[in-house]
Amino acid sequence: MSRVLITGGAGFIGSHTADALIEQGYQVRVLDLLDPQVHATEGNWPAYLHPDIELVRGDVRNAEDVAKALVDVDVVYHLAALTGVGQSMYDIASYVTTNTTGTATLLEAVIQRARPLHRLILASSRAVYGEGTGFCDVCGVARYPGTRAKQDLENGHWEVPCPVCAGALRPVPTGELRPRLPISIYGLTKMQQEDLVLQVGHGFRFPTVCLRYFNVYGSRQSLKNPYTGVVSIFFSRIAAGQPIHLYEGGQAIRDFVHVADVVQANLLALERDVPSGSVVNVGSGQQCSIAEVVRALGRATGNTPRLVDKGEFRAGDVRDCYADLQQARELLGYKPAVELDQGMREFSAWAAGQPSVDLYQRTVEELRQHDLLGFGKEGK
Ligand SMILES: NC(=O)c1ccc[n+]([C@@H]2O[C@H](COP(=O)([O-])OP(=O)(O)OC[C@H]3O[C@@H](n4cnc5c(N)ncnc54)[C@H](O)[C@@H]3O)[C@@H](O)[C@H]2O)c1
Ligand SMILES: [Zn+2]
Repeated sequence: MSRVLITGGAGFIGSHTADALIEQGYQVRVLDLLDPQVHATEGNWPAYLHPDIELVRGDVRNAEDVAKALVDVDVVYHLAALTGVGQSMYDIASYVTTNTTGTATLLEAVIQRARPLHRLILASSRAVYGEGTGFCDVCGVARYPGTRAKQDLENGHWEVPCPVCAGALRPVPTGELRPRLPISIYGLTKMQQEDLVLQVGHGFRFPTVCLRYFNVYGSRQSLKNPYTGVVSIFFSRIAAGQPIHLYEGGQAIRDFVHVADVVQANLLALERDVPSGSVVNVGSGQQCSIAEVVRALGRATGNTPRLVDKGEFRAGDVRDCYADLQQARELLGYKPAVELDQGMREFSAWAAGQPSVDLYQRTVEELRQHDLLGFGKEGK
């Protein structure tokens, strides 16, 4: 029976992955430091963790902790990371140390072992793309736009212009082979994680797979962490009787994928004969605006969320990005199965039983302090 290590396995995606692996007969070990920004358990392991998991409290930045966690391990899922896009824009050193240096520390420990590693699977992110791919109907080609000009955002022009003719781009699915152009520090560290994993895996001949998750939601997504997970943040606002603030009018396009589908992809990445060095999108393949996700959450909770739209925008946000799943289908045989309404009901049923914490306002103040929030002129 193979032993699997999941770094960051006490968190949202890792804990669900652990359950599925145990179900398949794997032995699972988790290395996690129980980051207080994520876990409301005051240093204790969350109660939702499967009782058969071997728990190792430790830090991916610490070589000794990592070496200990890797003993007798055949497969590694590397999920430990700081995950707040907005927070990464000013808490730069923490993001680089945990995400980039943590990955480097893990890789050094892997190559120091005598035992060969069967596979390393990295939890990467759609944030490596920056803006999603857009099609210019005037030029007749797909474009990979960079960061939108601040002046355009301040004038309330949210649409992404074609970098050549300045016409409006039409969002199309974002595929893996296009250039990576991250526009946040978080996205940059995810790109560095990919490069480190792919290069060291290639050099030291152990198989690697990078999965680029899109916007994952579902039960166990931290309700305490106000820096990440819009669905959890919106739920916490509704539970606290507070309004939901829409940025860019709630019209930005995302790809919301339920955690059960991400777990499906995680298992396929281990069990299928995927070529080493594969990089694969994991999403729903569906466009969904932020406003639509708020409506779906409203339907699932039986509430009509109060909305505030002041025409604000946040630096580091992309306008549109959703997944091209062709590679996921071909390489993994991946097929997302959870519809948005069904996924929202699963999430809401779980979240309703959790203590409510609404720390959202703090993040707004921090963004404002760092000049990362702005008003579009045409906004209210
Ligand atoms: N949730 C999403 O929408 C999403 C999207 C794309 C990529 N990802 C990636 O998936 C992975 C898992 O994300 P999640 O949503 O489950 O987040 P999460 O915050 O629920 O889980 C991350 C876990 O890592 C742990 N951790 C943080 N720093 C650590 C360190 N130095 N050492 C050991 N453990 C540490 C935390 O305590 C937490 O339990 C991350 O790498 C994230 O970047 C998530
Ligand atoms: Zn054009």
